Amino acid sequence: MKILMVCLGNICRSPLAEGIMKTKLPENCIVDSAGTISMHEGEHPDKRAIKTAANHTIDISRQRSRPITTADFENFDKIYCMDEGVLADAISKTENEEQRQKVSLFLEVLGDHKNTEVPDPYWGDMKDFENVFQLLDKGCEKIAENLFLKS
Ligand code: 4NP
Repeated sequence: MKILMVCLGNICRSPLAEGIMKTKLPENCIVDSAGTISMHEGEHPDKRAIKTAANHTIDISRQRSRPITTADFENFDKIYCMDEGVLADAISKTENEEQRQKVSLFLEVLGDHKNTEVPDPYWGDMKDFENVFQLLDKGCEKIAENLFLKS
């Protein structure tokens, strides 16, 4: 199973989602993350994201931001988007229905139709990052559960 987590800058939400997801899946599963913009390409995650992950004994400090590519839609089995804008951008880059089917909103997995977006903590504070961590942890747990139930 190959999973790609996607947000806007690939420095806050999706690096956290990648780090959390990796702790919940066997080592033979591939988890990566990307952004829909290339503005932060090559940068490590935001210091607040690194600290928040570290508070939960997860090391995301060596990740580097990269923009999503057309190859990702072939290479990955599941592509989880953090909000509606990211979802629309990602879908606009797909080239066929098979690729389109791989792309969904991350929080859909929790089945809560009111809260479908992982809020962007970029302009927030450490509390916002912790809230995002908790939300991502819940979603990742559910994704892992669903995968194991099916296999
Ligand atoms: P992310 O957060 O999409 O969760 O990585 C953001 C990071 C950077 C910007 C926006 C959101 N930015 O505009 O630079």
